Order: sequence, then structure tokens, then C-alpha cells
Amino acid sequence: MKLILLGAPGAGKGTQAEVICDHLHIPSVSTGNLLREAVKKQTEYGVKAKSFMDSGKLVPDEIVLALLKERIAQDDCKNGFILDGFPRTVAQAQTLEEMGVAVDAVIDIEVPDEAITQRMSGRRVCEACGASYHIVSKPTKVEGVCDRCGGKLVIRKDDQPETVKDRLNVYHNQTEPLIEYYQKSGKLKVVDGQGDVGEVAARTLAALEA
Ligand code: AP5
Ligand code: MG
Repeated sequence: MKLILLGAPGAGKGTQAEVICDHLHIPSVSTGNLLREAVKKQTEYGVKAKSFMDSGKLVPDEIVLALLKERIAQDDCKNGFILDGFPRTVAQAQTLEEMGVAVDAVIDIEVPDEAITQRMSGRRVCEACGASYHIVSKPTKVEGVCDRCGGKLVIRKDDQPETVKDRLNVYHNQTEPLIEYYQKSGKLKVVDGQGDVGEVAARTLAALEA
């Protein structure tokens, strides 16, 4: 199965991807995580991507597509994958089709901008594996330590309130048109992203089975 998770920054794409991937036994592929890994390793792509990411802008397609293609060509993706954060523009969606990736469903996780700002201020991410937590709604068992891999939790650089505003603008201008795009193809399922993580996960899984 091949799925796309759509939604504003902080809508819970990464959080829901973790739940769905455990359930469907397919990996989640987050272009944001792939890019952050490249930045951390200071690869050529990472060095180029850093300033775009820090300011909340989209990274040029050439870089994002190279990382995505390499990732989905790996063995664990052969039975499907969940795309988290890709596509982000209609042009990227068209490229995905040109690559021959036939998507089964697109889940749009809807959360109003006001709620997003609150979520972002409490987000902590694992610097080793990229897992995402929240100091109130999804705390780790041990403060500052990733439940999954024991890595150290950090605050994402682009989670500062000003940058979150810019990321939301980018979302509304460049990514939101994808909702209509996938609605037309009949693949779109809209899920209310408010409520606790478990409630949203139940809705997401129910939408997939419907
Ligand atoms: P990316 O990493 O994809 O960031 P994003 O889309 O802005 O999304 P986030 O990761 O911020 O949010 P999320 O929806 O995953 O929410 P999460 O589950 O963490 O991209 C980063 C950057 O990389 C971009 O700005 C761009 O520069 C670049 N990039 C990436 N892909 C690209 C592409 N395709 N093209 C070009 N550039 C690209 O949840 C957020 C917080 O809320 C967490 O703390 C979580 O614990 C909490 N939370 C989750 N669900 C709930 C709930 N139900 N109730 C309460 N709290 C909750
Ligand atoms: Mg994410």
C-alpha cells in the first residue's frame, strides 16, 4: 500500500505516520527527516538545504527528489510506504506520478492554524531517529530521552513562532492546492486532526478501511 499524509506543519503527519506504519507494516518516508539527516551529516544536499529549512521555505525539488528516489528504492519500501511531507506542491505530485508511484489513498489531517502554533511550541524531536514528541500531549517516559532509540531530544530550529508562521504561509499557498488535486482523483480522505493522538489515529485507520 502507498499512502500520502497531507496536512499543515504540526498537523501530526509524523505522529500518525508512526502509528500507521506499525499497523500496516510499511515504513514511513518523511522528506523532512531525510533532509534533516542530510543537514546533520553535512552532505552536499544537506548544506544546500539548510537555509531553506531554517527559514521555513520549501527546499528545491532537485534535492528533495534525489533523496526521495534513493529512499523509496530501498528494499523495505517494496511492499509500500507512507509519504509524510511529500508531495508539497502540485508539481511534486505530478512528478510522483511520472515516477510511476501509484498512490492508494491520501489522508488530509486537518488542524486549524491556532492549534498548530500551540503544538509546535511543545514539540521535541529525537536527534538520532527523528521521532516526534510533545511535552504535554506525547511526553517520553524519561524526560529528554527518545522512547524508541534512547537518542537525545532537541527543539527543531524551524519551530520558533516566527518561522512557524512562515511555514504555515508556505503551506496555505503551495501545499493546500493538493487537497483539491487529490479530491479530483477520488483518493482523498479528510481526517479531523484535533483531539488526542489516539483519537486521531483511530479516525485515520478507520478512514483507511472505509
Ligand atoms: P517537515 O519535517 O515535513 O515539516 P512540516 O511539514 O512542517 O511538518 P512537521 O514535521 O512540523 O509536522 P507534522 O505534521 O509531522 O507534525 P508532528 O507529528 O511532528 O519539513 C521540514 C522542512 O523540510 C520544510 O519546511 C521544508 O523546508 C523541507 N521539506 C520537507 N519536505 C519537503 C518537500 N516535499 N519539498 C520541499 N521542501 C521540503 O506533530 C507536531 C507536534 O504536535 C508534536 O509535538 C506532536 O507530538 C504533537 N501532536 C501530534 N498530534 C497531536 C494531537 N493529536 N494532539 C496534541 N498534540 C499532537
Ligand atoms: Mg513531521
